Amino acid sequence: MALNPGPPAFGPYYENHGYQPENYPPGHLVNANAYVPYPVPYGPSAVPQYIPRVPTHTSSPATVCLQPKSSSGIVFTSRAKKIICVTISIGVILTGAVIATVFLWKFVKNSCPNSGIECGTSGTCISASNWCDGISHCPSGEDENHCVRLYGPKFILQVYSSHNKSWYPVCQDDWNDHYGKIACKDMGYNMNSFYSSQGITDDSGATSYMKLNLSAGNVDLYEKLYNSNVCFSGTVVSLRCIECGTKMDVSRMSRIVGGTNAAPGEWPWQVSLHVQGVHVCGGSIITPEWIVTAAHCVEEPLSNPRHWTAFAGILRQSLMFYGYGYKVQKIISHPSYDSSTKNNDIALMKMQTPFVFNEKIRPVCLPNPGMMLEPTQSCWISGWGATHEKGKTSDILNAAVVRIIEPWKCNSRYVYNNLITPAMICAGYLRGKIDSCQGDSGGPLVTEKNSVWWLVGDTSWGSGCAKPNRPGVYGNLTVFTDWIYQQMQANR
Ligand code: ARG
Repeated sequence: MALNPGPPAFGPYYENHGYQPENYPPGHLVNANAYVPYPVPYGPSAVPQYIPRVPTHTSSPATVCLQPKSSSGIVFTSRAKKIICVTISIGVILTGAVIATVFLWKFVKNSCPNSGIECGTSGTCISASNWCDGISHCPSGEDENHCVRLYGPKFILQVYSSHNKSWYPVCQDDWNDHYGKIACKDMGYNMNSFYSSQGITDDSGATSYMKLNLSAGNVDLYEKLYNSNVCFSGTVVSLRCIECGTKMDVSRMSRIVGGTNAAPGEWPWQVSLHVQGVHVCGGSIITPEWIVTAAHCVEEPLSNPRHWTAFAGILRQSLMFYGYGYKVQKIISHPSYDSSTKNNDIALMKMQTPFVFNEKIRPVCLPNPGMMLEPTQSCWISGWGATHEKGKTSDILNAAVVRIIEPWKCNSRYVYNNLITPAMICAGYLRGKIDSCQGDSGGPLVTEKNSVWWLVGDTSWGSGCAKPNRPGVYGNLTVFTDWIYQQMQANR
């Protein structure tokens, strides 16, 4: 993060391997993949080294069948040998069959191949992007009649009525946490990440609701919901699937005077993504299992999850030791990411083991549709990126306030001359001086609204750092939330 560029400060600095070429315009990037050769030529190898073992006294069923004598020295008759071989072979085949069945059962039961989503329990799979897209693909239309979303800064639960082709808030009458959990699960959250469900007065001016029909009997939640103009309680469901966007009262004691070093717990969703022990990119925790980062961070040759380790709840790079990192299980880059224009520069990482939340590790909220941010909303950026252009990554986490720059302004001839797509957000200052920089990529652009912190963007690109008329460009998270939920649903 470049902050009032001046002489580089002292202290441990780390070579930044997350650098992206910053030629302007990005369409003319010389080499979009300017990472240092992988594996990194120096530094401790993060991969444990195994010394090949020389087998000493091993025997296997196959060798018994081939050897004229057993290792114990007892001589078998050819008939006895045959029986032993047949018995062992049958045993091996049976064990194999059992293992294969278990695997197959898990696969069939669990989900659909290639990030597909199953239509109810029908066994039919459809592509995640076809879920809730307004066109029915499932045999019984489950993809269009199980559509739920949280709307606006107060998390109002809405259900889509495929009949009326419109979203309606859910009336609080007869609603309970059990239904809330079902709705959260249908959005892509895990059953156990449910946080709260409560009735609140709806100020959106809705005159029509989705209401529970309790006499519908033992049917699916969505079959119990019907469109109605009456809601006796006069309140609608506000649903929180995860306790996100909150932070503890942060003591800013450790804050360096005049600096912008982060205090513990100040940006609890910020993670540092390492490759072979080196910070490469930032990321943001959105659930115990998922991180949002930039697609350009995980381009070839770094698209394999095995390369990556995520560090959470640690402010200093010098305190990030391999053993304390979280391993990555899966990386999903946006299918429409364009490495030359940096359009749709977003990716998801699924962790091998879930984050354990505490005051230093917490998720940020994904923006809901209908959030209505100010055109020049104040936001925060954070990261271990360079503190001046062409500098090295910072040992300590830094943060700065930036303002959103309206697209028309950012696309003007003097700024980025129409390189900003609707999937991008500009933030910073046209006068320069404060900006994200190399190594901040993938990290958060967040804002506070209704006492909740929301992920507005992920650090993507910029021409140089902190230069006048060259603000930072971020992936526009509101454009990607549907895709994120679909991926979480398809890759549980
Ligand atoms: N692409 C950079 C990275 O990989 C982030 C650059 C942000 N640049 C800017 N001027 N805001 O870390």
